[in-house]
Amino acid sequence: MKIGERHYRTLWLNANERSLDVIDQTALPHALVIRTLDTLEDVAQAIESMVVRGAPLIGVTAAYGIALALLADSSERQLEAAAARLLSTRPTAVNLAWAVARMRAALRDVPASRRAAVAYEHAGLMCEEDVSQNEALGASGAPLIEALWRDRGQNGSVGILTHCNAGWLAGIDWGTALAPVYKAHDAGIAVHVFIDETRPRNQGASLTAFELAAHGVPHTLIADNAGGHLMQQGEIDLCLVGADRVSADGAVCNKIGTYLKALAAHDNGIPFYIGVPSPSIDWSLASGALIPIEERSAREVTHITGLLEDGARAEVALAPAGTQARNPAFDVTPARLVTGFITERGVARDTLELRALFPEKESP
Ligand code: MRU
Repeated sequence: MKIGERHYRTLWLNANERSLDVIDQTALPHALVIRTLDTLEDVAQAIESMVVRGAPLIGVTAAYGIALALLADSSERQLEAAAARLLSTRPTAVNLAWAVARMRAALRDVPASRRAAVAYEHAGLMCEEDVSQNEALGASGAPLIEALWRDRGQNGSVGILTHCNAGWLAGIDWGTALAPVYKAHDAGIAVHVFIDETRPRNQGASLTAFELAAHGVPHTLIADNAGGHLMQQGEIDLCLVGADRVSADGAVCNKIGTYLKALAAHDNGIPFYIGVPSPSIDWSLASGALIPIEERSAREVTHITGLLEDGARAEVALAPAGTQARNPAFDVTPARLVTGFITERGVARDTLELRALFPEKESP
């Protein structure tokens, strides 16, 4: 998508065609910093520190991590060590395990002399697939927004609440939950996106607000606790969020706070849709209760980072020194609170319809 006049993706191969260039998402929205990742360890640390984040982007970055590892040493032992290192970085988004498994399968029968080349080819393929899948997801979901707009006689804009960042910064391009928003906006449908700030890391305030502004999509940032009130006031027509993992029972694991928005939407009769490309569906996991939930540093809760008036970045304390804090990074929304799943193959209202869209996938 665009930043200014230039089209960007979140990652691309460096001019040397080996290293990976990525947008450093810890520097946004205040600076556009491009980082070059030269080694497997660079990739693993970029995922851990959330220089790259968002389920689809983590998956594709990990695929390139394997290619970088094999460039240094193409042995089978190195492939297994790289897979283990990458799998240790973040536990919740299934795209990571999915990407690593796919790379392993693609490389299984490849002779060592060809492994690195095949790994780059395959990572590149996954990168392009991510773009086309999420663009198709956007096309599947845009008619839902258009229908709401027509229902209101094309007066005013469709109010859409979103949580965290499920836009192009969370994938390679387009994004998941925001792909239908971009498609609708580009087609001339009036939308207004209400963005949850998304404490503690504030991906809504720093990333979603950044990318919607860059693309010219009207939006308003709200405190995390304001969504229920705006729903009661009739300002929200639709909730659209992404998913780090959908289990076979249709439970949706996404950024912490998603569940509370789903409850409020249910209470107010507001449709609650999930933008979910197929790599984020974990058909092998029977229940959402089994999804591993990442616990991050308590410091993300007790402190906050931002820009001072003099332009310097600073971290400041919010809580009394020594306050104990917990930081579960994701929660699970049960399928009964979900109106539908927007995928690259269409919209499914429940798990039966979801399964019918992907008949080739195995049951748990
Ligand atoms: O911790 P993050 O920033 O990686 O979490 C991202 C989200 O929760 C997104 O909503 C999710 O990855 C799905 S959208 C691509």
